Amino acid sequence: MNVSLTSADITTIDTGLLVLPIAGTETSEALLNVEKATGIEISTLAAEEQFKGEPGQDFLLRGVSNMGASRVLLVGIGTEDSREYDTLRAAGTSAARQAKASHVTNFTIVAPSDRAAALAMIEGAVLGTYHFDRFISKSDGDYAGFETLQIATQDDLSADLAERQTIIEGVNLARTLVNDTPNHMTPIAMAQKAKDIASEFGLKAKVLDESALESGGFNLIMGVGKGSDNPPRLIHLTYTPSGEVKRKIAFVGKGVTFDTGGYNLKPGGALLAMHSDMGGAAAVLGAARAIGELKPEGVEVHFVCPSAENSISGNAMRPQDIIRGYGKQTVEIHNTDAEGRLILADALAYIQEYEVDTIIDLATLTGACVVALGESTAGLFSSNDALSQSILDAAAACGEDIWRMPLNKKLDVLLDTPTADMKNVGPRWGGAITAALFLNRWVKIDGWAHLDIAGPAYTEKETSTNPPGGTGFAVATLVEFTKGVSNSL
Ligand code: BES
Ligand code: MN
Ligand code: ZN
Repeated sequence: MNVSLTSADITTIDTGLLVLPIAGTETSEALLNVEKATGIEISTLAAEEQFKGEPGQDFLLRGVSNMGASRVLLVGIGTEDSREYDTLRAAGTSAARQAKASHVTNFTIVAPSDRAAALAMIEGAVLGTYHFDRFISKSDGDYAGFETLQIATQDDLSADLAERQTIIEGVNLARTLVNDTPNHMTPIAMAQKAKDIASEFGLKAKVLDESALESGGFNLIMGVGKGSDNPPRLIHLTYTPSGEVKRKIAFVGKGVTFDTGGYNLKPGGALLAMHSDMGGAAAVLGAARAIGELKPEGVEVHFVCPSAENSISGNAMRPQDIIRGYGKQTVEIHNTDAEGRLILADALAYIQEYEVDTIIDLATLTGACVVALGESTAGLFSSNDALSQSILDAAAACGEDIWRMPLNKKLDVLLDTPTADMKNVGPRWGGAITAALFLNRWVKIDGWAHLDIAGPAYTEKETSTNPPGGTGFAVATLVEFTKGVSNSL
């Protein structure tokens, strides 16, 4: 979809749907102009339908004549003091959904005068135009989706808008990687996708295949992947800024393309949606795309995705196997379903060889984290307060919910076992914390944080800005975090 800015008179813009944001009961100049052109008292009609300009409300008028648009949609955004990023974005998404419901190919949003509000609303609209229909057979004459979104504004939003669009492209890439089904989005396919991103956006790409992983001693990635006919991969993209490198950071994403649980097989219901177990890797690759395009200065960024399918066969990893990881410690497998931390352990050990000062890993790691925080909030685990705060700030700036959890070292003994350096699970209670502590055992640097995104990476139901499926959660936060690092240099 093409997004463009226009300063034309809104009553003359040729469009299928003209969207007017309404701030509570404040009079809207734009609405007055539209009423004048059409001769219809839209505000009265809307008031009769209880429309009060509040967030979540809208009013659609069809069959409009005497102006460029054939439909007018009022969307409530509330008064300026009551506004939140979330509700503005949701207003944009709801406009896009209305446009789609009317099979409109071209819609126009009259930008609110407040710049931040305008950008949030546009972001919601663009996010709202996403749909995943790769596997839906189409016939001639079917609605083919959006072509253009015009933004009617007198402000020059172009630079900000271009940056938001780049980030949204990253979000949409992550959504699609998750939505692509596990028979298509195998570790090999993900590695190919990563290489494509690298060549399009000027990143360096390195992919270790099963023989390189085997000979390199990545035994935990191999252990998880060897039960599947789809062999594992370790994907490593690098963004190098054009000038001097002052900081080196890494994002590491869990890329389990399907998690059956292995011999600790998941029950039927829990298997559904386990193609989203590469949501961490998807977020990392989405961020790679955006960062490759935005080209922040001074910061080298590594994007690392260990990818495997956790499956069952005569070859599969068993409970009680003891495996020596790439970081040289041994792990006794107590539960083959705690596989994410295994592949991450090898990836974390590997990326520290590149002397990065900061590592953020992202993983759909535990059901326990979803129990703790609900489906829309990610858990943040780190003993570094400054790093934690900058992640929380970045998340807040882009409207993503992240909550800091305790990385309580007292629980670390729960991973001890008499026969190996550690086991791969603790007891049921505190499961998200012991998972984070397991990862912590493979990290030697101080600047490490772990994000458990098992809740927000995927949604079964439509939400205020997402259709059902992959959400692209954390792409925006990672990009914002990287910009923050770059700007601080
Ligand atoms: N991929 C799952 C975690 C998960 C659960 C993600 C629900 C999204 C929604 C992970 O590999 C897993 O199976 N974790 C186990 C750990 C347990 C065996 C210690 C879990 O959470 O039950
Ligand atoms: Mn699992
Ligand atoms: Zn998993």
